Amino acid sequence: MNKQDGWNEIGENYNKNWEREPEKRLSKLELNFIILQLKEKNPKKILDMGCGTGRILHCLFKNSKANAKIYGLDYAQKMVDFCKRSFYPTGTRSKIKAIFQCDFSNEELPKNLTFDFISAIRVLKYNKNWREIIPKIKNTLNPDGVFVFTMPNKVSASFFSNYGIQDCLTTRSEVKKLLIDQGLLLENTCSFSRLPRTFYTFFNGSITYAKLILFIEKILGIFLGKTLFGKELFFVTRKPR
Ligand SMILES: C[S@@+](CC[C@H](N)C(=O)[O-])C[C@H]1O[C@@H](n2cnc3c(N)ncnc32)[C@H](O)[C@@H]1O
Repeated sequence: MNKQDGWNEIGENYNKNWEREPEKRLSKLELNFIILQLKEKNPKKILDMGCGTGRILHCLFKNSKANAKIYGLDYAQKMVDFCKRSFYPTGTRSKIKAIFQCDFSNEELPKNLTFDFISAIRVLKYNKNWREIIPKIKNTLNPDGVFVFTMPNKVSASFFSNYGIQDCLTTRSEVKKLLIDQGLLLENTCSFSRLPRTFYTFFNGSITYAKLILFIEKILGIFLGKTLFGKELFFVTRKPR
């Protein structure tokens, strides 16, 4: 089965990965980070690549300006259909301009569209040619446009776990070099979790357990800094004016 079929099969079940309390709390940290970038840049045209079931799209919708134009894309038709069902009938259509099916690893990104803000959260890692995708994204960014994305860290517990679909791994320094070689400015890097995924999935329903997991993550962050041993590395990069 190829990865696209894999994601079609997962479909809306992907939401379940964020339903347990520890994962909800982790998701909140990730979304708050994205909100911070959005508030700083106030982008008008926004694209969410690999929108999945719309976790990031929803955040972009809620936290962008009223006149923002938001687009989403995914190569899994099931994900696209799910997002259309969740966003279109709720009156959000005015801000969410389109959600379309596209495999950005081998297709052109939306024709005639350029963006002030692009997100690709937990997405590029499913593409062996992710290094070649970054220059394509750069071409789609407006001057001063921002690209927020994640990649899993080779030097972390990510090495041992994935969602059943094999990820590509990298390091902070490899991505940094790649961005600099592309003439992009690296504005921020961080990570929110270091503990192996089993700590999140082994949730017994106790809020105290969820709080403990996130507390341990926080303490590890204080001692290890922003990215050391972080599993999913977040990068904020900007195209110079
Ligand atoms: C782990 S989900 C992440 C969803 C969402 N970004 C989030 O953080 O909740 C990854 C999504 O990326 C999509 N994806 C992966 N590679 C893609 C590609 N080359 N083109 C379009 N979508 C892709 C998958 O179909 C899947 O829906």
